[in-house]
Amino acid sequence: MPVHYVTYKGIKFPPAYNSVHSLSFAHNEFLVRDDDVFNITYPKSGTVWMTEILSLIRSRGQPSWSQTVLNSDRMPWFSTRLGLEAALSYPSPRLLTCHLPRHIFPKSFSHSTAKVIYTLRDPRDVVVSYFYFCQMCNSYEDPVSFEQFLRDFLNGDLPHGSWFEHVRGWMQMKDRENFFFITYEELKQDLRGSVRRLCHFLGQDLDDDAISSVVQNASFTAMRQNPMCSSILLPADIMDQTKGQFLRKGICGDWKNHFTVTQSETFNRIYQERMQGLNVAFPWDRN
Ligand code: A3P
Repeated sequence: MPVHYVTYKGIKFPPAYNSVHSLSFAHNEFLVRDDDVFNITYPKSGTVWMTEILSLIRSRGQPSWSQTVLNSDRMPWFSTRLGLEAALSYPSPRLLTCHLPRHIFPKSFSHSTAKVIYTLRDPRDVVVSYFYFCQMCNSYEDPVSFEQFLRDFLNGDLPHGSWFEHVRGWMQMKDRENFFFITYEELKQDLRGSVRRLCHFLGQDLDDDAISSVVQNASFTAMRQNPMCSSILLPADIMDQTKGQFLRKGICGDWKNHFTVTQSETFNRIYQERMQGLNVAFPWDRN
């Protein structure tokens, strides 16, 4: 079945939860509160992982919140129809999630001290993860082939827009006090150290036992076993669980199993061009 994407400011969004009204409201009218904490990502960069980490930090390592309340209810997707309602009614301090690029993020953010945590991932692994996700999620078009999907990714034609513009837009904030960026690769390499850094940024003082509990409950294995974040509870008309798993592999470098030499060369050329002048060294720049 063809998918009719919602388009806002030239960017396509999946129709299941988004509407032009919810996106426009988020952009123009949503009131950011100074104590809001935002989990922001381009799709497939570790959004749900960060949701788990932030919820567990908020509950000081106690897993009961994460194990009994759906992740989307713990950290509403405020630019979507359902998420907006929840976000507006939640008491402070709120934890909120979105994939919005910087230029359509709430205007009221500019003058606030709300905190943003921006998680990025090797874009080659993003595209692989996204490819499989689109096959199982019915609000996205089924990819024709990996070759075509990769081309669309590089051209910025996939839902949620261009990865390059997303990263460039958000990374403009990298020197601001209320902005913290971290990579999926760092989370994989040193989750405990990453949790400590996040706690410091958030001003949350957790003892060693609490940190251990965050690390344990945010592990890939624990998350796969937790229906509140594994996506298993999403309705079948949204997520077809017979076509794959949302928590698919959870590894770094799966792109090596998918890219041909030519695709890798094309990717590198475009990546170099599009990232010029950003002056940030990412873990994946080394290989
Ligand atoms: P893969 O498809 O490569 O397995 P998002 O939440 O932004 O949609 O990202 C989903 C990706 O993050 C999936 O990648 C998923 O497996 C991975 N992920 C989620 N939780 C994880 C965890 N605890 N450890 C490692 N990877 C995780």
